[in-house]
Amino acid sequence: MGKKQRPSPQGIRGVAVLPQGFEEIGCQELQALGAKQVTPLRRAASFEGDMACLYRLHLQSRLPFRLLREMARFRCDGRDSLHKGVQQALDWERWLHPSMSFRVDVTGNAPGLNHSHFTALQVKNALIDLQRALWGRRSSIDLDDPDLCLHVHVHRGEAVLSLDGSGGSLHRRGYRAAVGAAPLKENLAAGLIRLTGWDGTSPLTDPCCGSGTLLIEAAAMALQRFPGLHRNFLLESWADFEGKLWDSEQQRARTRQQPAQAAPQIIGYEQDHNIAQQARDNVSAAGLEDVITVFEGDFRDAPPPEQHRGVVVCNPPYGVRLGNSAELEKLYRELGEVLKNNYGGWDLWLLSGNRELTGSLRLKAKRRIPVSNGGLDCRWLHYELNRRSPDSSLRKD
Ligand SMILES: C[S@@+](CC[C@H](N)C(=O)[O-])C[C@H]1O[C@@H](n2cnc3c(N)ncnc32)[C@H](O)[C@@H]1O
Repeated sequence: MGKKQRPSPQGIRGVAVLPQGFEEIGCQELQALGAKQVTPLRRAASFEGDMACLYRLHLQSRLPFRLLREMARFRCDGRDSLHKGVQQALDWERWLHPSMSFRVDVTGNAPGLNHSHFTALQVKNALIDLQRALWGRRSSIDLDDPDLCLHVHVHRGEAVLSLDGSGGSLHRRGYRAAVGAAPLKENLAAGLIRLTGWDGTSPLTDPCCGSGTLLIEAAAMALQRFPGLHRNFLLESWADFEGKLWDSEQQRARTRQQPAQAAPQIIGYEQDHNIAQQARDNVSAAGLEDVITVFEGDFRDAPPPEQHRGVVVCNPPYGVRLGNSAELEKLYRELGEVLKNNYGGWDLWLLSGNRELTGSLRLKAKRRIPVSNGGLDCRWLHYELNRRSPDSSLRKD
């Protein structure tokens, strides 16, 4: 038998794979959804929980890319021990009938297992050897839409075999057919909103909204619309799937949802005609057209807000992917002016991938949180916009 780890008192041990820089709030989210023993790791967090908790995380969590359920641990110091350990890790007769397709993802390494593709091939071979012995036939491999998705992590002479409950990455919520220019990943946008501490009651504006990701994730959070309620999960065909429990967790998530009227004003500006249309399409696909308004136009022409408090979130172009530097400097300078003049009393959170440009805002950041946006080293900067001392500092960030 595969050596099972000390059993968790909660029943299930798992790992949530998170975007870099979001480990801490990722842990907070797991805890808020009932996970226990939550521990931050690099770009991940480990947790324990019962089956209801695992289902709830799939339905309600917004930050993870993936949720992995640990099934077995075994010694792995090379190909032979991997082959044997995989075959013994689970009751495959129950879990992987040849009529089911599967995929293997691998992280980590061991002697002779230095390439994840090669290691995945060894895992696959171990399983189809076993299937041929049991049934005389084997599963097919499906990288895009498998029936079972296995994850093997090899580290320090040990392998952890887990099941991936979703197969596809959880950041793909399904509302975004259209993706503007340089879009944020949905889970990253959700994490950024969560870092602002916005409680979903004050107005929220994005002056450079692109395809609307920050607006949509903010609105979904304010109204407790959960990303997993409208998707199919691989865990629904696991051998130990508990249909009644799954239904009751779905019901529990549904009853938390708030009607559109409960949302504050959530608006975005986008100057590019096509991208503004894409944003509107995404908002409709997310079912939030009664909650979010996307104005097509330059934020510099927008009227000042009526409310004296609120949150501005902004992911302006910053040069690596979009725009030339003289134009961008002007854009940031004018963004700073518009915000100081029109949004006194509001909080500003701005995603910066370029320190020089953020200096052109001529605002002093209160907080700088390092985050990685698709591999780019960025800062999520918090400013308090105070109309009375507009030029409180000329310091560059
Ligand atoms: C980095 S993208 C925003 C991406 C967005 N967060 C998303 O996830 O799709 C910046 C956007 O700002 C828009 N933009 C640039 N200058 C603007 C302006 N003066 N007024 C309104 N939108 C502007 C660009 O067209 C671009 O779509």
